Amino acid sequence: MSEFIDFNQSIYPFPAKPALLSSDEKAFYRERIKSLLIEKNAVIVAHYYTDPEIQALAEETGGCVADSLEMARFGSLHPASTLLVAGVRFMGETAKILSPEKNVLMPTLDAQCSLDLGCPEDEFARFCDEHPDRTVVVYANTSAAVKARADWVVTSSIAVELIDHLDSLGEKIIWAPDRHLGRYVQQQTGADILCWDGACIVHDEFKTQSLEKMKALYPEAAVLVHPESPQAIVELADAVGSTSQLIKAAQTLPNPSMIVATDKGIFYKMQQACPDKSLYIAPTAGEGATCRTCAHCPWMAMNGLKAIAEALEGREQQHQIQVSEQLRQKAMLPLNKMLDFAMSLK
Ligand code: 13P
Ligand code: SF4
Repeated sequence: MSEFIDFNQSIYPFPAKPALLSSDEKAFYRERIKSLLIEKNAVIVAHYYTDPEIQALAEETGGCVADSLEMARFGSLHPASTLLVAGVRFMGETAKILSPEKNVLMPTLDAQCSLDLGCPEDEFARFCDEHPDRTVVVYANTSAAVKARADWVVTSSIAVELIDHLDSLGEKIIWAPDRHLGRYVQQQTGADILCWDGACIVHDEFKTQSLEKMKALYPEAAVLVHPESPQAIVELADAVGSTSQLIKAAQTLPNPSMIVATDKGIFYKMQQACPDKSLYIAPTAGEGATCRTCAHCPWMAMNGLKAIAEALEGREQQHQIQVSEQLRQKAMLPLNKMLDFAMSLK
């Protein structure tokens, strides 16, 4: 038995796009960042959805470009005293929760996530209180306060395995916040899941009829889908998975081309992984609609070179992630359970 609670969807103000830099300015900030990273004993921890120039800089300077699970792991194990997290706010908070002794900086603290914004701490706590018999599993895309209320944190790369495990123990689940991922996990495992009604504004925009037309246009292409996408999109997929799992699928599937239903920032690493394959973004417009995000997270796009340089220059309050020790202690427990569970799968 699964049930989906219908919460009112909020309207999120879109952040302004960062100002475009000239090529001279880009070269200046790249060099400035490289010397600041050395000076501050810092490393860049970047998500696949950041712009290619940020991913390239992270790679060039010994940082990482990864999915949200690997970012958490890399940040906690790396010896640098400062982590520059290029991603969205929950990724910076996760890094701080796992590494309180480190200085965790972000290019901007306004880089949000619609899943996090759509799951306010007080409403979520009330929801959990109404179902005390259920194990609370929250996606990593949540605030530290929501994590602190959970029994488990999970990312899309291990969601099916974790819910399968909890189901085998006879546990009934509260899942938050992504309704599409919740439904996907429920269908894969048959677990008893009560699901929060959040969504990712990027993945929610993929369009089924347009994707069907595109498949007909490129019959040799495999369709790769992140499970934050709507069910009808997932049903058209040849592979469904987290960002890193999709990159692996692009590499291992025999098809010469891929239609990809996730943020197009992933193309930088995906093309590196399979240089001879053609990659196409799945359609986000059509069927009488125009896209708002057009397959690029507006908050991920806030991670620009200028803002990274400013964060490392030490304008601390504007860039430093802070999590109170009391909250950190609580949020750390389900996060560490996630990391231990992920290790047990290796
Ligand atoms: P991954 O865990 O697959 O990196 O996804 C994070 C995310 O924000 C997807 O929209
Ligand atoms: Fe959140 Fe979606 Fe952006 Fe990922 S792509 S950070 S889920 S809004």
